[in-house]
Amino acid sequence: MTVPFDVVLPRLEVLGSAMAYREAGDPDAPVVLFLHGNPTSSYIWRNVIPLVAPVAHCLAPDLIGFGQSGKPDLEYRFFDHARYLDAFLANAGISSAFVVAQDWGTALAFHLAARRPGFVRGLAFMEFTWPMPDWNDFHADARETFQQFRTPGIGEQLILERNAFVEQVLPASTIRKLTDEEMAVYRAPFPTPASRRPTWRFPNDLPIAGEPADVYAAMEHAHHALAQSSYPKLLFTATPGALVSPAVARRFVEKLKDCQVVELGAGIHYLQEDHPEAIGGAVNEWLVRLGIRSSPKQTLTL
Ligand code: BEZ
Repeated sequence: MTVPFDVVLPRLEVLGSAMAYREAGDPDAPVVLFLHGNPTSSYIWRNVIPLVAPVAHCLAPDLIGFGQSGKPDLEYRFFDHARYLDAFLANAGISSAFVVAQDWGTALAFHLAARRPGFVRGLAFMEFTWPMPDWNDFHADARETFQQFRTPGIGEQLILERNAFVEQVLPASTIRKLTDEEMAVYRAPFPTPASRRPTWRFPNDLPIAGEPADVYAAMEHAHHALAQSSYPKLLFTATPGALVSPAVARRFVEKLKDCQVVELGAGIHYLQEDHPEAIGGAVNEWLVRLGIRSSPKQTLTL
């Protein structure tokens, strides 16, 4: 794949396909795993990772079907992503990590933590997925659009034919205007309707009003485990937010143990594009406070 304005990433063979990843920092330091969401890639962490790399071994995979990773013939259900992420971590030899996640990356992190106690040493997260009992819990400005994405025939027309997740949702969900170069990188993995199927599946898998039942149940279970968990947490919030308004964040944090909150100011959904320095700086300080240590030696693959 030609990737304008981005580096060509190394890839790891995973379940007969390949997953690309960004890596930085001392390979002997504790791992910080960065997990992105829809329709982005590890590219969204490009201005966050350099602030965390001085204290950690940073690893940011492109989820299967996204960024520079392969596009095997899958349904691209949430559980497919969990399976490929598990295999990526096994092949990379990672048995524990601090996780920094946004959007569907948070669903993968919560699910991973619930299934593998001890893997997650700490979790920094933002704009997280949660099982919404009712469509009225979904951000009002995006509600009708996401209901259309989940309407058979219309969703495929909007996302597969018109590339709506990249062309409309992404630019509408940052405060600053993404540059032409940035948009070109986000567009590159999705040149054809077939290539966009992973970006269609995710809004169809969002756990809302009990549907889809399998993802809803998995997220209820994972959120229960999150509420029981004692590993340290760092939650970034923004105003107005999209999946997580400041009011939702306040109520949510009351149920968690050891969770600090960092308010970023204005932001919608892709907070890493509007506040990379604040996020990277706060994650660095949080890791240092937690006693993470690394030698000064560093590698950079950004
Ligand atoms: C999502 O990917 O779930 C999402 C993106 C933008 C606004 C709201 C939700």
